[in-house]
Amino acid sequence: MVTAAIWPALDYSRVPYRLYHDDEIYAREQERIFRGPVWSYLGLDSEIPEPGDFRATWVGDTPVVFNRDKAGAVKAFVNRCAHRGALVRRELSGNAKEHICIYHQWCYGLDGSLMAIPFRRGIRGEGGLEPSFEMRRHGLRPLNVDNINGALFGTLAENPEPLEDYLGPPILHQLRRFLDRPVRVLGYNRQRIRGNWKLYAENTRDNYHASLLHEFLVTFGLDRSTQTGGVRMDARHRHNITWAEADSDTDELAHEAYAGAGVRNDFLSLKEPSLVAFRPERGDKLNIAITSLFPSAVFVQISNSLAVRQIRPRGVGEVEIFQTMLGYEDDPPEMTLHRLRQANLVGPAGLVSMEDGEAIEIAHRASRPDLDRTTVIELGGGGVISDRDYRVTDVPLRGFWSYYAELLGIEPEGAVR
Ligand SMILES: [Fe+2]
Repeated sequence: MVTAAIWPALDYSRVPYRLYHDDEIYAREQERIFRGPVWSYLGLDSEIPEPGDFRATWVGDTPVVFNRDKAGAVKAFVNRCAHRGALVRRELSGNAKEHICIYHQWCYGLDGSLMAIPFRRGIRGEGGLEPSFEMRRHGLRPLNVDNINGALFGTLAENPEPLEDYLGPPILHQLRRFLDRPVRVLGYNRQRIRGNWKLYAENTRDNYHASLLHEFLVTFGLDRSTQTGGVRMDARHRHNITWAEADSDTDELAHEAYAGAGVRNDFLSLKEPSLVAFRPERGDKLNIAITSLFPSAVFVQISNSLAVRQIRPRGVGEVEIFQTMLGYEDDPPEMTLHRLRQANLVGPAGLVSMEDGEAIEIAHRASRPDLDRTTVIELGGGGVISDRDYRVTDVPLRGFWSYYAELLGIEPEGAVR
């Protein structure tokens, strides 16, 4: 049994490796986080424009389907038949009048209600269900659904905190900036990483690894810790925005700062420099805005590439990253091409995501033998968890662990929140 005594430091600057490898912890995460009070990103309103449109997704280990009903409202349900627990909707997306389980063909409406059961009255008066069987008690289990500018979120909690309160003002502001115009899906990709899902949640909250691990980014000035930037969190420090401003540093400053870091940033050149060009799209200079939502969604702007990443845990030692690449509906074709080219920075065959995958896999593998040893996360200092207006900091990781510990019921007395 893992208890609050697991933490060697009250400010979460030491995370025991056990938390990445323990099956019992994994089960508790599913129960208390993913099936608990959090809001999880499901998909986009624009992915299901017509009545009957549906998409399958996941909230942690729980399969979920969301659809547009006949009246135009978005509904979401656990994608599991009330009869024998089979997945009802096996396609990723489609359009249908109802959802029928292939196993015994129990049929559910777009509102999730159980509408029909084959052989309900048996055959020739024999078998089937008792007349007292109450259909209305056996629908698909609903999620509460809400949306921010067309981004759909769901929760399995029965009395959830309102979504806007859950996100908090800085995060809401950033999501509304990202979704300030109708979006268009440019494509999907998936990446399987043989590592614990929390290593990925940490990866996107960690600002400065990008300019050390990802040689491409620093070489071509897309992401350098010498840029003006920082981290912002909600009041509970569960979510994080990593941000940086374009053209806010110089090559000289960057060369000087990275001189001792073993990052080769001056021997490659691009034959097509327009690949990395940043075209400002709104009244700010942000060319990096990575918004990590607890527990499992990341809204990513890197230069002009836009994506939503969904973190899908697949057991203690594997995670799937499901990525939706986006543009805006009013993008001219040339801008769509620009976004797609830059989108190849990320994704499983891109220049960045495979490096993150490798970093997560080697951390997962090397930490497994010593479950009671810990990470050391104190760049940006220990103690108080707060926003920083500089980029070299681990502080948002401690924010993540602080809320994680609270939900799992392993928050130590006197913990720094
Ligand atoms: Fe990275």
